[in-house]
Amino acid sequence: MFSFGFDVDGVTAVSILVKAGACLASLTAAGSALALLGLSRLDDDSARAVRRLAVAGAVAAAVLSALRIPVRASFLMGGSFSGAVDPVILGMVADSPLGTSLWVRLAGLALICLLVVNRSVTRWAAGVGAVLACTSFALRGHTLNEPRLVLAALITLHLMGVAFWVGVFMPLHRLIRIDANAAGALAEEFGRKAVRIVAALIAAGAALLVLLTGNPVAALATPYGQILAVKLGLFATLLALAALNKLRLTPALRAGDPRATVRLRRSIRMEVLAVLAILVTTATLTTVASPEAHAGTTVSLARYTDQRPEFAKVAELVDALALGASGATRGGSSPPFRTSVSYRSV
Ligand code: HEM
Repeated sequence: MFSFGFDVDGVTAVSILVKAGACLASLTAAGSALALLGLSRLDDDSARAVRRLAVAGAVAAAVLSALRIPVRASFLMGGSFSGAVDPVILGMVADSPLGTSLWVRLAGLALICLLVVNRSVTRWAAGVGAVLACTSFALRGHTLNEPRLVLAALITLHLMGVAFWVGVFMPLHRLIRIDANAAGALAEEFGRKAVRIVAALIAAGAALLVLLTGNPVAALATPYGQILAVKLGLFATLLALAALNKLRLTPALRAGDPRATVRLRRSIRMEVLAVLAILVTTATLTTVASPEAHAGTTVSLARYTDQRPEFAKVAELVDALALGASGATRGGSSPPFRTSVSYRSV
């Protein structure tokens, strides 16, 4: 087990990686759907490639998101395989906010899969699917707190901005190799739209931070604030790369500078790496830490304890985890039930 001010054992590490993978695949699927609607400079070939990526991303997202249910069940049962396949524990997890979020996400991903048919109506349906996939993040975790509707709207907006950004990577990277001129036009269009989209993404992220922590500066003394600071450092790198692309490399590509094609492709690959690092950091943040401002709220357990008193402890933790309880407050990782100390949920 590793300790960074919070504990990361094997099953916690698997939870973080599966969550980050599900998030990346969901954002790729949603972002590709949004790119099809939002970018007029996509030629037919690029649009076909984007549709294929959207569908592949949606399938991967569905598998990885569904995998979170047995991974959570295993975590509850001390990281054991038997926990991952225990029907009662699986039922509890599926019945928790994580399960609700999964159903909404699957509905959104199914709509995105309609892109296998190339029609205007399927593109709009996929756009609705992208919104649903992003909204699914609001249905479990820290954003279930009050003011719930505001937090839900902010996280959905935050993720739609991130998704649109992610959605442009592949078509741009691909087009630079095939047609530098067309790629320059696409990069210019994205650069123009990105200014407003990134501003909205930052504003939504900052508002979430203030609402969740109460005081972001004071939160720096907590694991939540510290992991978020790492995320913001990575985000600054991503922003610097985006600025380089927009202000230097895109004009050079438009001017026909052959070195710009190589440099812009490399810069996009680095942006992808920065996004991956941010997603792993965010998955770590939402798995092992919670904003202190909300610690201490309890959750309703009656629907489980009434039926099966012997599972009361597990039920407590199912809800606490689905609501984003921190690693520090959820009773550590001692098998069989990780509820040996009283938990606090966010
Ligand atoms: C100024 C920049 C940003 C700020 C201030 C910010 C802040 C936040 C905050 C406070 C949350 C809520 C976390 C929680 O539930 O406890 C969040 C969620 C999230 N952010 Fe950001 N963020 C920023 C940029 C980004 C970027 C660039 C990405 C991706 C590349 C990203 C990906 C995510 C994801 C995936 C979630 C949802 C986590 C989940 O519920 O599983 N954020 N962000």
